[in-house]
Amino acid sequence: MCGIVGYVGREEAGPILLDGLSRLEYRGYDSAGVAVYHPQVGLQVDKAKGRLQVLSDLLDGGKKIKGTLGLGHTRWATHGRPSDVNSHPQVSEDGLFAVVHNGIIENYSEIKEFLESKGVSFVSETDTEVVAQLLAYHYKGDLLEAVSKVLHRIRGAYALGILCADQPDRIVAARKDSPLILGRGDGFNMLASDVTAVIRYTRDVSYLDDGEIAQLTPNSVEVFDRYLRPVEKSVHHVDWEISAAEKGGYEHFMAKEIMEQPKAFRDTVSPRIQDGEIVLEGLNFDRAYLTSLDKVYIIACGSSYHVGMAGKYILEKLLRKPVEVALASEFRYCDPIVTDKTLALVISQSGETIDTLAALREAKRLGATVLSIVNVVGSTIARESDKVLYTWAGPEIAVATTKAYTTQLALVYLLALSCAKTLDSLSPEEYQELLRGFLRLPDKMEAILKHRDYIQYLASHYFNHSSIFFIGRNLDYAVGMEASLKLKEISYIHSEAYAAGELKHGTISLIEPGTLVIALAGYAPLFEKLVSNVVEVKSRGADVIGVTSAAQTGWLAPKVDAIIPLPDAHPLLLPSLEVLPMQLFAYYVALQRGCDIDKPRNLAKSVTVE
Ligand code: G6P
Repeated sequence: MCGIVGYVGREEAGPILLDGLSRLEYRGYDSAGVAVYHPQVGLQVDKAKGRLQVLSDLLDGGKKIKGTLGLGHTRWATHGRPSDVNSHPQVSEDGLFAVVHNGIIENYSEIKEFLESKGVSFVSETDTEVVAQLLAYHYKGDLLEAVSKVLHRIRGAYALGILCADQPDRIVAARKDSPLILGRGDGFNMLASDVTAVIRYTRDVSYLDDGEIAQLTPNSVEVFDRYLRPVEKSVHHVDWEISAAEKGGYEHFMAKEIMEQPKAFRDTVSPRIQDGEIVLEGLNFDRAYLTSLDKVYIIACGSSYHVGMAGKYILEKLLRKPVEVALASEFRYCDPIVTDKTLALVISQSGETIDTLAALREAKRLGATVLSIVNVVGSTIARESDKVLYTWAGPEIAVATTKAYTTQLALVYLLALSCAKTLDSLSPEEYQELLRGFLRLPDKMEAILKHRDYIQYLASHYFNHSSIFFIGRNLDYAVGMEASLKLKEISYIHSEAYAAGELKHGTISLIEPGTLVIALAGYAPLFEKLVSNVVEVKSRGADVIGVTSAAQTGWLAPKVDAIIPLPDAHPLLLPSLEVLPMQLFAYYVALQRGCDIDKPRNLAKSVTVE
């Protein structure tokens, strides 16, 4: 969602801000803008609806706008449609304050009414303009004091960047519930929604926490709490390579990230296998603790939730403990049954999804121990969890997640196996067989990716369908949910995933001659049942693509129109393989349909508003 960049230093800010915004494009947006201050010209604000390129062309890549400090923003519309006037920065009526904002100011109408009663006129429909106008109202020469007063009046979620034309040597930032990092340089300082925007300039970053205010000048970074008491911040060094956030010769980030999965899997798993044993850093779950657990509550959104769905089957099977899976947006308002014997397993690629964060806080408040699986180091969810396991997938840029999904799933397996060993809920033989099979998965992923041309061929055959169903049972059903989401996210084809056994309870009425059904039949214990469902939809005229392991293809092939074979693997491990051709299928279908694959319409990579 909205991306924020700020720069204060000695270089021309315009090109740096536009470059930073281009690195945040993946977050999802519909308009963009910058504000730059120059002593002779004053505050210059330029905004444009549409792609960042429109703004960049307007400003000749930023060269047309002069000044060494400024703010940039990509907006994902919440309050007010995408338009030039609703884009950020929003400026106060007196022209003194420019503000960029990510989040939602919940009490904006009430504040707007108050300011209007004082004679202030508003030009936009945004909640953000209220912050700019309120700053102007409270400003009496002390910028930080005005910011602090405003923060005490606004409610909701925000990451704010503030520029005051009366104090043109600094920018100010504040956050609550929306991410903001500070990039610390030599003779310059920056702020941004995430590190990808600053990494070309500096690798030293500090993470702003909720309720904090930062004041940045070219040579100083000061952080305060909302009462303006100084706060010490530590500086973290980001060590991933800048090339990790570039396309590296692929047409799309999504294609690159699909292909990176074997490596991402190995990077996530290898450091956690020592002398043939699973070692999960910082996790000291002993037998007594695991035995005492009343349940595991998996909490997540989107694809991370689908990992949780697969996780339920895996953890329940291996640990014989009840596992509940909740959408974070539901969990936070459902009065969940959580005790101090509950383990909350929170899964999030970005570590910033607002619903997941709120659910984490609720689980903690209710006494649960929170273990999170997160990709972005230093993100809010990682910092607020009792324990965190990082997926070492590297930066994921495409909105549709792929390598984050597979690495999250890899950690769920490692967690399940490690806890099962401690609990003795698996025999040593079963444990060894599963672990060996698990470690062979990346080689098998490579074999699948090698044959991607075949999936492209299938996609070229089926891309014109207007509705596609995925059916599966047990773990195949969990993979089907992810496959269906992937397809609709990027190709805009209507798609649904069904537990195959539920077909007869309604959905089968939608099957007519030519309907495409993708039958996920990897899970060997229920293979025959699934084949019966395939026969049912075939006899109603559906076109069926079957997906199953090599050992089972001979049985399935005669019953379907096309088959995608997977390398053989233990049935519990098959989801890690089965999801790959489904990602490829979604990708190639979207490619055939000419969709904007890395930036699908209306979607955001990191959902930081409720
Ligand atoms: C967005 C993304 C999805 C992601 C979901 C949860 O919807 O487009 O790919 O699965 O958010 O995000 P998280 O960062 O918490 O995993």
